[in-house]
Amino acid sequence: MLSSQYLHIFSAALFILSLKWMGEVKTSRYGNWSAILGMVTAIIATYLAFPVDHVPLMIGAAVIGTLIGIPIAMNVPMTAVPQQTAISHAFGSLSVALLGVAEYYQRAPHVDPFTMSVLSSEIILGFLTFSGSCIAFAKLQEIIPGKPFVYKGSNVVSLSVLGAAVLLAADLVLHPGSQSLILAIIALALLFGFLLVMSIGGADMPTVIAILNSFAGISGAGLGFVLNSKILVVAGTLDGASGLVLAIIMSEAMNRSFINVLFGGFGAAPAGGSNGAGSHHPQRSVKSYLPEDVASLLDGARLVVVVPGYGMAVAQAQHAVKDLATILESRDCKVRYAIHPVAGRMPGHMNVLLAEVQIPYSNLLEMDEVNPMFPEADMTIVVGANDVVNPAARTQTDSPLYGMPILDADKSRSVVFIKRSMNPGFAGVDNELFYLPQTMMVFGDAKKVITDITSALKKN
Ligand code: TAP
Repeated sequence: MLSSQYLHIFSAALFILSLKWMGEVKTSRYGNWSAILGMVTAIIATYLAFPVDHVPLMIGAAVIGTLIGIPIAMNVPMTAVPQQTAISHAFGSLSVALLGVAEYYQRAPHVDPFTMSVLSSEIILGFLTFSGSCIAFAKLQEIIPGKPFVYKGSNVVSLSVLGAAVLLAADLVLHPGSQSLILAIIALALLFGFLLVMSIGGADMPTVIAILNSFAGISGAGLGFVLNSKILVVAGTLDGASGLVLAIIMSEAMNRSFINVLFGGFGAAPAGGSNGAGSHHPQRSVKSYLPEDVASLLDGARLVVVVPGYGMAVAQAQHAVKDLATILESRDCKVRYAIHPVAGRMPGHMNVLLAEVQIPYSNLLEMDEVNPMFPEADMTIVVGANDVVNPAARTQTDSPLYGMPILDADKSRSVVFIKRSMNPGFAGVDNELFYLPQTMMVFGDAKKVITDITSALKKN
C-alpha cells in the first residue's frame, strides 16, 4: 500500500534524525521523542502494509508490554541502566530469532539458498545475542560473579561451538528440508553466547552490550530481507552500525582492541598488578585528610577542576557536587568538570549525572579541552574516579591501562582524591597518583565527604 510506504520512509527519517540528535546533550530529548515517534509510525505502517489476523491479541500484547516496560524504565536507577539495556536486548533479539524460526518452519522445505543463508545467520546471531545478553544482565546485576570464567583453551572451545553452528547452517542451506538441524543450530548459538560472555569480566559488559546490540540489529536487518520489510532493514542496519561504532569508540577510549574485549578475559589477573582489595604497595604511605582540611584549602581558590568517576555514580553524589560548586562559584571560584570518555560504566555516564543536577553543559569539558587547565587549577577534586587519572597509562608498559589517554590530574598543584579505600578501580591496578606529594586522600563515601566539605566551607 502506497500510504504505508510513505509512513515507512517517514519513520526511517525519524530514526536517522534520532541518532543525530542523540549525539548532543542539547538535542538528546528530541532524539528520544523522534525515536518513539519513528517506532509508533513504523508499527502503524506495518499494520497497514500486511494483513493482520489477530488484531485484539496484538494490541493486548502491546498494552501488556507497555505496562511492564514503562514502570521499569521510570524506576531503574542510573547505575543499573547497563543491565536494563542488556535485558532489553535479550528480549529484542529473542523475538527476532523466534520470528526467524517461525518463518523457516512456514517455508520449509522450499527455501531458496539466499533466504536460507540469511535466515540461518539471523537465527544464530539472534540466539547468541539472547543468551549472551542474559549472562551480561546476570553479571551486571551480580546474580552471578562478574569475574571472567576462563580456562586453558576456553577461546578454542567457544570458537569451535560457533564453527559447528556455522557448518550446520551451511548444511541447512544445502538441505533446507532437514528440520532437525535448526534445533541443533539454536542450541549451539545459545551455548556460544553463554560461553562468550561468561569469559568476559563484568566491568567489560557495557562494551559487550554495545557489541551484542550490534548483533541484534544485524539480525533484525537480516529478518527484514526475508520478510521484505524495508523498515526492518533500515532500523536493523542503524542499530547494528551504531552499536558497532559505539563499541569501537569505547574500546579505543580504553586502549583495547575489539578482539581483546571479546577474547581477552580482561579482569582475570591483570599483568603487573593484582586485582581487588589491597593491591596498593604496602610499603608506601598516603596522606589522609579530613573534609574540613579540604574546605580550608578551598578558601580563596580561583579554579577548581572536578573529575567525576564511577564512584560518584555509586554514591549518587552529583547533587552534593553541584551544591559544593554553587558555594565555590558564589565566592568567585571557577568550577569546571573534566569528562573522560570512559569515566563510569557506560557512555556519557558522567554527562547524564551532571546534567541531571542542571550543571551547565558548557562547564563539562572533554579531555583535550580540560587537560591544559590542570596546571592552572588551585585544586583538582577526584570524585570516585580512579583509572581515568592513573599516570601508569602513560609510562607503565605492562599495565592494562598503558596507552589509554588520561586526564592530567597529576599536573595539578593539589589533588584531592575522594574514595572509600585504597581499592583499585575497574582495571584492578594501583594508582601512582595516590602517592604523589600533592595528593590528599579523603576516605569515605563520595556523597558524605562532599557534603561535609560544603558544610565546613559554609562555616569558614
Ligand atoms: P574506576 O577506575 O572504576 O574507579 C572508581 C573508583 O570509585 C574506585 O576506585 C572506588 O574506590 C571508587 N568508589 C566506588 N564507590 C564509591 C563511593 N560510594 N564513594 C566514593 N568512591 C567510590 O572509575 P573511573 O575512573 O570512572 O574509570 C572507569 C573505568 O571503567 C575505566 O577503566 C574504563 O575503561 C572502564 N569502563 C568504562 C566504560 C564506559 S563506557 N564508561 C565501559 C567499560 C569499562 P573505593 O572502592 O575505594 O571507594
